Amino acid sequence: MSAPEAVLTARHVSIEYEVDPPVKAVRDVSLTLNRGEILGLAGESGCGKTTLAYGMNRLLKAPALMTGGEIVFHNREGHDIDIVALDGDGLRAFRWDKISMVFQGAMNSLNPVISVRAQIFDIFDTHRPGMSKKDKQARAEELLTLVGVDPSRLTSFPHELSGGMRQRMMIAMALALDPQVMIMDEPTTALDVVVQRGIIREIMRLRERLGFAVIFITHDLPMLIEISDRIAVMLQGQIVEEGTAEEIYRTPKHEYTKKLLSSFPSLTGERGDFVRTGNQPSQEEIR
Ligand SMILES: Nc1ncnc2c1ncn2[C@@H]1O[C@H](COP(=O)(O)OP(=O)(O)OP(=O)(O)O)[C@@H](O)[C@H]1O
Ligand SMILES: [Mg+2]
Repeated sequence: MSAPEAVLTARHVSIEYEVDPPVKAVRDVSLTLNRGEILGLAGESGCGKTTLAYGMNRLLKAPALMTGGEIVFHNREGHDIDIVALDGDGLRAFRWDKISMVFQGAMNSLNPVISVRAQIFDIFDTHRPGMSKKDKQARAEELLTLVGVDPSRLTSFPHELSGGMRQRMMIAMALALDPQVMIMDEPTTALDVVVQRGIIREIMRLRERLGFAVIFITHDLPMLIEISDRIAVMLQGQIVEEGTAEEIYRTPKHEYTKKLLSSFPSLTGERGDFVRTGNQPSQEEIR
């Protein structure tokens, strides 16, 4: 295997919520995402995972403020993009295009009265204004097929779809512009275990096929161990341990990592179970 090449680097990032008293949500975090890898970000509720993810995609809004550090995207075309310095057109050309995000709880916030097709077309209208209707339709159908949903579902409205299908739609939308990085914030947490596994397998397959890198955020460390190349463990705004999935599984060093590992006794399969099982999700799973 060739040496890892970074696609996204965060150095000494600090983010605060400027409320009274201020919340130091992310404290001096440094993190590197390599091209094509899955980096798991684990940690309990409130430790700062979503805040860090928003920072990395320049999505922070007041009262959140990045108070220090730098975030650099290493473009496939060879030049670096200083994410913190982007504004206006630069930001529009960056977000969704280079890094896309599947938001925590987003499947429940899809606009229920707008068809799936209109919501996908909206991305093209914003980012690819010259795209013909025929091309938009073809790409939208391709995207649904990619995530294991029948293209006839394009005319559906979100309220007509199951949770698993809505989440697949969110992933399809995040893939729309063929990004180099996808940030997935608890993409399966609200779903039952069978649907969750189906979607995770789909993400693994897509990653294999399309080559994007993933930051996969969840409090479920055992699940991350099954799917990630590397894992960072976050506690109270800081990364307290980082290593390959194998290292975190076999030789966790931090007490908190050990605690997280033992808090999900339900997963007892060998590492790699998700990855190896090549089954297509059943129709029930995706309906
Ligand atoms: N708008 C806000 N104003 C003030 N504090 C906030 C705001 N949003 C988040 N916080 C605080 O920042 C800290 C980090 O929150 P964040 O949502 O990033 O955690 P998380 O790890 O994503 O949690 P979860 O697993 O529940 O999604 C928490 O203490 C939270 O209460
Ligand atoms: Mg969160």
